[in-house]
Amino acid sequence: MKKTTKIGFIGAGNMAHALVSGLINHGFSKTNINLSDVDKLLLSQRKSEFDVKVFTDNLQMAKQCDVIVLAVKPQILSSVCKQLNTGLQHKPLVVSIAAGVKISSINYWLKGTTPIVRTMPNAPALLGKGVTGMVASDIVTNQQKTLVENIFASVGIYFWLQKESLLDALAALSGSGPAYFFLMIESMINAGVALGLDRDMAKSLSIQTALGASIMAQNSNDSIQELRAKITSKNGTTQAAIESFQNHNFDIISSHAIRAAFVRARKIGFELDNSE
Ligand SMILES: NC(=O)c1ccc[n+]([C@@H]2O[C@H](COP(=O)([O-])OP(=O)(O)OC[C@H]3O[C@@H](n4cnc5c(N)ncnc54)[C@H](OP(=O)(O)O)[C@@H]3O)[C@@H](O)[C@H]2O)c1
Repeated sequence: MKKTTKIGFIGAGNMAHALVSGLINHGFSKTNINLSDVDKLLLSQRKSEFDVKVFTDNLQMAKQCDVIVLAVKPQILSSVCKQLNTGLQHKPLVVSIAAGVKISSINYWLKGTTPIVRTMPNAPALLGKGVTGMVASDIVTNQQKTLVENIFASVGIYFWLQKESLLDALAALSGSGPAYFFLMIESMINAGVALGLDRDMAKSLSIQTALGASIMAQNSNDSIQELRAKITSKNGTTQAAIESFQNHNFDIISSHAIRAAFVRARKIGFELDNSE
């Protein structure tokens, strides 16, 4: 990323906080980071934490930036974009992190030919452990794509998707995914307590096991199936549990749940697409 690239965030909330922290931790100059929000108290907190420039006027900030990250809630994205559309003659790159809002809608609201990248980060990005799906409009240059990669690499890993519609699948997997693991951890804690363990201990055992399993899955050369086979001894405890999961159609339950999230993501996208 060029040392002079100026980035502006519209919406200084949780995700903007994560991205600004990530960028600064990765050596991006704070003098080129700008934040705009309607909440003056939040802005003064961000200013004292990061020492970045803050604005209460989105358009005034946008006019000065090469990259504008739209980090407001999806429901207000249309009004924010319409506010900006008179001030983008310099054709900045617009990056949206708003869940569900299509590139065509953003382009329509911005009334223009500004390059747009739509992204879908997930909540662990708040800890630098996120995964972000990204789709670029046709006029986004390779240089601009590299810039977006630098932004999202600062909060985890990222993938480019060839079709925007695949963002609904990604939302169903990694967007909602952290909650699936929380549900599993909740169930494990309750099961441990039912077997006589203290709740706090059951919680620590379950969380540390989830963490350890994730790190093993990430670092091993074995496939996930091989890893499972390696710790499943014939007639052992793990086999008893896995067989019970399979007899209760764990695979089908998971695939139905993830498909339900996918269908809902598509429906929300459709609803947002039709909101003026
Ligand atoms: N948090 C996540 O884990 C996550 C994950 C993936 C994607 N996202 C997406 O990221 C976006 C931001 O989420 P977030 O969690 O960071 O939300 P957030 O914490 O609520 O931050 C949004 C900020 O925008 C401010 N705002 C409202 N209207 C504005 C306006 N007209 N101009 C400028 N700022 C305005 C809000 O102020 P008020 O609070 O005063 O309204 C708030 O400070 C959302 O579109 C969400 O879909 C979030």
